[in-house]
Order: sequence, then C-alpha cells, then structure tokens
Amino acid sequence: MQQQNALFLESKQGQFVVRKRPVPTPGTAELLVKVYATALNPVDWKIQQFGIFVDKYPAVLGSDIAGEVVEVGQGVTGFTKGQRVLSHGLLTENQASYQQYTLATSTFSAGIPLNLTYNQAATVPLGLDTAAVGLYSDTLGAGLTPPWMEGGQGKYPGKPILVYGGSSSVGCYAIQLARASGFSPIIAVASRIHEEYLISLGATHVIDRHGNSDELKKAITGTAAAPVEIAYDAISLPDTQQVSFDILAPNGTLVTTLQPVVNEGQANGRKVVATYGSPHHPANQILCKGLWSNLEDWLHRSIIKPGPFEVLPDGLLGIPEGLRRMKEGDAGGVKLVARPQQE
Ligand SMILES: NC(=O)c1ccc[n+]([C@@H]2O[C@H](COP(=O)([O-])OP(=O)(O)OC[C@H]3O[C@@H](n4cnc5c(N)ncnc54)[C@H](OP(=O)(O)O)[C@@H]3O)[C@@H](O)[C@H]2O)c1
Repeated sequence: MQQQNALFLESKQGQFVVRKRPVPTPGTAELLVKVYATALNPVDWKIQQFGIFVDKYPAVLGSDIAGEVVEVGQGVTGFTKGQRVLSHGLLTENQASYQQYTLATSTFSAGIPLNLTYNQAATVPLGLDTAAVGLYSDTLGAGLTPPWMEGGQGKYPGKPILVYGGSSSVGCYAIQLARASGFSPIIAVASRIHEEYLISLGATHVIDRHGNSDELKKAITGTAAAPVEIAYDAISLPDTQQVSFDILAPNGTLVTTLQPVVNEGQANGRKVVATYGSPHHPANQILCKGLWSNLEDWLHRSIIKPGPFEVLPDGLLGIPEGLRRMKEGDAGGVKLVARPQQE
C-alpha cells in the first residue's frame, strides 16, 4: 500500500508529529486528492489547546484542501484525473488536509479556475462556507435567500448589513456574499489598515475596530441610515457580540461564529444564531451543495476572491509553528498556507 506523510495530533492536547500513513482509497462520491496547499484555521489550534471537537486520536486536522485529483471514486461526475480542485475537508484521518493525500467529498469540491493558484484556492473553503451558512441557512444562519438561487442575486438593495471583524477570513467572505446579495451599505468593523482591501471586496464603509463600544455603536448606526436587520459577527468575543446585538433593529438577526453570550431576552424579537460552517453537517448539505456547484464560476468571475496569504516553510512540519502564531494573533492579517508535498 502506498505510504504518505501526515501530521498527526498524537493524543488529546498532545504533540504534533509527522509520520507515515497509507494513502486512502476513494469511495463512492469521493476524490483522492494530492494536496499541494492547505490553509490553517483557528479551530485547529483550539482542538490542540482545549481538546475539543475531535474524539478519536491520533488525529489528522486541517479542513482546507487544494490539490490535484489523482483518482476518481465511483459515481463521481464532473471531475477528472489531473484536475486542479479545492475542497472542504472533514476532520477524520482520511478526509483532513494536513497530509499529502486526502479524500475529498465531490459535492463539496470545485475546479480551480486558471486565474488562481493552489495557494489562493486553499484559503477559500472553510471561511466561505462559514460565511455562507451564517447568512443563508434557515437553521444555522439568518435564513436569507442565497445569491446562487433564483431571485437571490442582489435581493437586498437598500438594506444595511454589519460585518464585525471584516478582515478575518470569515468576515472577508461575508462581505463578498453580502455584496452578491445586494446589501447596502455593507459596514465592516476592522483595523483601519485593511480599509482599502475591504472596500475592494464590497464593503462600503470600514469602521476602526479600536474604538470603545459606545463609539463603535454610534459609528455603525450613524453610517447605516436604515435599521440594521442583519449583523454577522465573525469574531464573536463577548464585547463584539454585545456591540453587534445592541445596534440590531427589532426582529433583526445576529449571526455568531462562536457560542452566543448575549441575551436574546433583551427583546424586540431580535434573534441570535450560532453558525457552524461545515458543509458535511446534515443541516448544511443542500445549501452548501448549491454554493459549491457555482464556486468555480464565481472564482473565475471574481465574485469571490481569495484572501491574502503567507506560505509557511517546511511543509507539514511548519504547521505547528503556524498554529502557534495564529493563537498568539501573530498571523499579520493573512491566511497561513502550508505545502504538504514539501519535505
Ligand atoms: N462556527 C464555525 O463554524 C466557525 C468557522 C470558522 C471560524 N470560526 C471562528 O470564527 C472566528 C474567526 O475565524 P477566522 O478564521 O475568520 O479568523 P482569522 O482570519 O484568523 O481572524 C483574524 C482577524 O480577526 C481580526 N480581529 C481580531 N480581533 C478582532 C476584534 N476584536 N474586532 C474586529 N476584528 C478582530 C483581526 O483583524 P485586524 O487585522 O483588524 O486586527 C485578524 O486579522 C474564530 O474564532 C474561529 O474559531 C467558527
């Protein structure tokens, strides 16, 4: 059986170690992908530090896959050997991305258009799915009509939206989806340094995140003109949730990426929904299938643009140091990307 290198988290809250494991065989509706690039996400250092989300150890982590199809499983249509693809992985030994070969679910995979590199493509899956589920899911989001569905594109003109943490990976995709949905104004809260970039993605206003809560609330409501019915808090710390909730219009929805800490009982029909961006979750599969079937075209037409990235040295071995930097907030506003084929 062909062997490959994989980065294992050896035990709950244990050490990361690179060692061999077999290259898996694709089952029905799966692709075997040679992973050329994978992006790091906060969930990976949180799993290592807090021992959450993963039950089975040793474990392979990593969700963002960009690589080449080397084998096509039964029942797969629309993908061929040799094709460049991106895919949203799953945190199981066969389907995670911190290894040289992984199994990608074809439904949550898309071709990489010629205008993008593997590194750029790897920055997309988890951030984009989390933004999309948060905005468009009826159960794990605000229940808006997705722009890839009939009547969804440009559906919300004149409606303001707040994206708190606009420069985060999830926030950047929330801004771009809000633009595709027609929201206006699109108000991002982020460090000033990102203003030009966020405006290029579709934000109409960028409010400096370093003000105090009262200043932030005043700036948001002053910019919005109309009541803010949708707030997407990509950061979801207690203070960012509170600001986002406080500026919300009656009957509005706050989407959080972490557990809600604000109290819905504060009334006026305002709702708080904690999102969960995995397309593999049963509640998200139909929604995300729609997104993924349009993704190659959207990336080609730059409706969705991948974010800035930094390539880490030393292949899989460089990932633990990258996760440490993310944890310390030292990733410099870029997505960290590892190259598993590099030894
Ligand atoms: N529920 C889910 O399914 C799900 C999925 C994905 C992510 N998440 C969670 O969502 C959060 C964001 O993930 P991510 O990958 O998008 O993060 P990320 O890209 O690593 O976010 C980093 C950026 O967040 C900004 N930021 C930090 N504190 C902020 C604050 N108080 N106000 C505004 N901006 C702030 C910083 O921007 P500046 O440069 O402006 O300082 C930094 O560049 C994480 O906690 C993650 O675990 C949850």
